[in-house]
Amino acid sequence: MHRHGCSYSHAPLSLEPRLRVQEIAPGVYMIRVEDEATRFFEALWEIPEGITYNAYVVTGPERVVLLDTVRRGFEEEFLSALSSIVDPRDIDAVVVHHAEPDHSGALPAVLERARRATVYAHPMARGMLEALYGIRIESFKPVKDGMELGLGGGHRLVFLETAWLHWPETVMSLLEPGRVLFTGDAFGAYTVPGVLVDSGDPEAFKYYTYFMRKYFATIIGAYRRWVTKALDRLETVKPKVLAPLHGMAIERHVQEAIGLYRGWASGRLDTGRAVVVYSSMYGAVEEAVQRIAGMLEARGLDVSVYGFTGADRANIADLLGEVLDAGYLVVGAATYEASVFPLIWHVLDMICSKASAGQRVLVVSSYAWGGAAARRIAEKLQGCGLDVAAVVESKGRIPGSALEEAVEKLLSTGAGL
Ligand code: FEO
Repeated sequence: MHRHGCSYSHAPLSLEPRLRVQEIAPGVYMIRVEDEATRFFEALWEIPEGITYNAYVVTGPERVVLLDTVRRGFEEEFLSALSSIVDPRDIDAVVVHHAEPDHSGALPAVLERARRATVYAHPMARGMLEALYGIRIESFKPVKDGMELGLGGGHRLVFLETAWLHWPETVMSLLEPGRVLFTGDAFGAYTVPGVLVDSGDPEAFKYYTYFMRKYFATIIGAYRRWVTKALDRLETVKPKVLAPLHGMAIERHVQEAIGLYRGWASGRLDTGRAVVVYSSMYGAVEEAVQRIAGMLEARGLDVSVYGFTGADRANIADLLGEVLDAGYLVVGAATYEASVFPLIWHVLDMICSKASAGQRVLVVSSYAWGGAAARRIAEKLQGCGLDVAAVVESKGRIPGSALEEAVEKLLSTGAGL
């Protein structure tokens, strides 16, 4: 059983951003800012593992292109790294795959120096960037699917429209020759990997996919139906390298990464795994879920437990990543003011929005004078597409026999409630 506790007490690994630059393919440079000071990405997601912001420079035979920038606050470091590759005044084009400020924050500083650069981006992006930064983009070229940006000598970037991964203006671009696909947020991950390109070590990549999945659930999860559509388009271009805006570039595990995205987008579940999330004010629910977790483990499942208690507070971002493709979910919460314990209600909102995939659910609840939580939790989860298989609600302590029966129902292959 894996018990996942609070991330709030993690001290930042490093308050000073680190920069790394590497040529990841011929004429393609990744500039990576490593941010280990941000504790809550989007002011929401717990990331004790840190995050990177990646930008790329492509030096073609005749033209130099910068692809995205980094978050505001890192301009100085970014410009210094950029200048180690190319004189910013020589940049011909700046591609903005996605206008969100973690990638466009340094754009105003870049455009002040790259005076002759044209900005290539989705038509929506111009207004967004100008409004975000109070700037006027003098030279802007709206891109559409299939449009090319020539770099000389047959080298070119081909644009792909990939709306809603995860903003409406998101585009990708494919560098030919080489088939390096610049994927925006897609195929990105939290954490600061030790390498800029995957090493080919299967175990290392498997470990990394935990952070890819966490990123997918929290950032892209709400738009999963658009992922399948984009993947159909991506597979026609047969990328050799996936170059995302967070994490590391993927060269040796491209098909595996695309397969993972297909699974996460389509709601493929791992019936060998269960996630338990619960709150417990005075111990009744905690005692019950611990017994349930033990029973699930005894049946051979890999069980992860996330608790909201007087001693601990679960990391919701990790929880969402794990729930995304877990076959089973156990939700435990007491009735609170004639409704559901509020932190659990928030977690259920997030699961419904970002990780609902038909998981089978067991709901367990206790109350002191009047029950309400079990019914409300079951209705909510059933309403957003999960399969509620068993509900146990009890006044005070929850009897073991009821828990055993509920676990049997959860693991049975019959229909839900
Ligand atoms: Fe990494 Fe949607 O920005």
